[in-house]
Amino acid sequence: EKIKIGIDKIGFAMPKYFLDIRDLALGRNENENKFVKGLMQSEMSITPVTEDIVSLGASAAEQILDEEDKKNIEMVIVGTESGIDQSKASAVFIHHLLDIQPFARCIEIKEACYGATAALTFAKNYIEKNENASVLVIASDIAKYGIDTPGESTQGAGSIAMLIKKDPKIAVINDENVCQTRDIMDFWRPNYSDFPIVDGHFSTKQYLDCLATTFDEYKKRYNQDLSDFVAFCFHLPFPKLGLKAINSLLEKNMEKEVKNKFLEKFHTSIIYGKRVGNIYTGSLYLSLLSLLENCDSLKAGDKIGMYSYGSGAVCEFFNLTLAEGFKNHLRHDRLNDFDNRRQLSINEYENLFFEKIILDNEGNCDFSNRKLIQESDNAFVLEKVENHKRIYKKIK
Ligand code: CAA
Repeated sequence: EKIKIGIDKIGFAMPKYFLDIRDLALGRNENENKFVKGLMQSEMSITPVTEDIVSLGASAAEQILDEEDKKNIEMVIVGTESGIDQSKASAVFIHHLLDIQPFARCIEIKEACYGATAALTFAKNYIEKNENASVLVIASDIAKYGIDTPGESTQGAGSIAMLIKKDPKIAVINDENVCQTRDIMDFWRPNYSDFPIVDGHFSTKQYLDCLATTFDEYKKRYNQDLSDFVAFCFHLPFPKLGLKAINSLLEKNMEKEVKNKFLEKFHTSIIYGKRVGNIYTGSLYLSLLSLLENCDSLKAGDKIGMYSYGSGAVCEFFNLTLAEGFKNHLRHDRLNDFDNRRQLSINEYENLFFEKIILDNEGNCDFSNRKLIQESDNAFVLEKVENHKRIYKKIK
């Protein structure tokens, strides 16, 4: 019999700071309902200069890994579109910070918000041939569109870490999946630009059309339909797009009761995303975490449909089956973490937004005395740059 491979552990890290979306609306002279109701967003995580995809990714992983895990990890894959280096993979820094055994492969995968989903497939294929190995998959991103741009209300930052193994404790990644690629320019970030260029309305249309066509193909290929699933999770650039996605899947002649069950679950899947914002590669997995930790009616054996979308565009529809006892391996007090963040005023947000690493002539920049570091609740921070080398510090 084929071995079962999937998510054994899942962790999440975010920065200490957030902006209330209503404060952003006020600062930009927009009606707050445009963001609160129109996008269904409430808060956005904001990163200080002392956090990046490495510190967030390592912090998310540190929460879930024990010494035994670190001995068994043979590969670390980071999916990101907020890379800190054009050459060196962030996974190499993370491998070192976590003290993972040396005979491992560490790489970064890029295709906009889709990267972490590709990483999962790569991890699964590796474990099929190396049954006792574990793979650490990290989705880590900082979404920044720029001050006073249409995308500003859909920013966010955070990192999801997943330990992938055989006989996983949380969810099995099943074999059925359909991908689709379309060469479109809906959202991209040229090397010379700090911020993405985005054709916002076009991007949302593509996201939804890719979902419809990919899910149709999935149903045909595997002879399945909605009734095979108990819930769906979507990539969530902003929660309202997820609502449009679930509504587009629900069939017109479907019983109201069945529809409501899907919608109820959908609303538990956006609890975290509403407060974090878009975290690009991690956003689909944050929605999964939100569903698993906040929905009471899920049980072992339930099948969850997963829609991953990365602009450019590559998407995938695949599915998970919940493992026996999955609830025992999740947190049930995570909302406290959200409540413990520090709220920024619009001015503080703008100051953090514009702060950059400014190097002296020798390529040095030191943050070690900054309050930003002392305030962080995460395990790792960026402490300084020395001779153009980023130096991270374990603080917890
Ligand atoms: N009360 C209630 N609702 C209101 C309102 C009010 N006072 N004012 C406006 N709204 C509603 C609008 O009707 C609209 O909802 P519907 O789409 O359901 O009609 C919603 O608020 C947003 O309004 P607009 O469309 O006018 O907003 P906008 O054009 O200024 O910006 C956006 C919206 C294009 C999504 C913009 O936020 C953006 O560019 N975001 C970044 C791109 C993005 O997230 N794309 C998603 C797909 S691409 C992807 O998935 C990859 C990725 O992660 C980036």
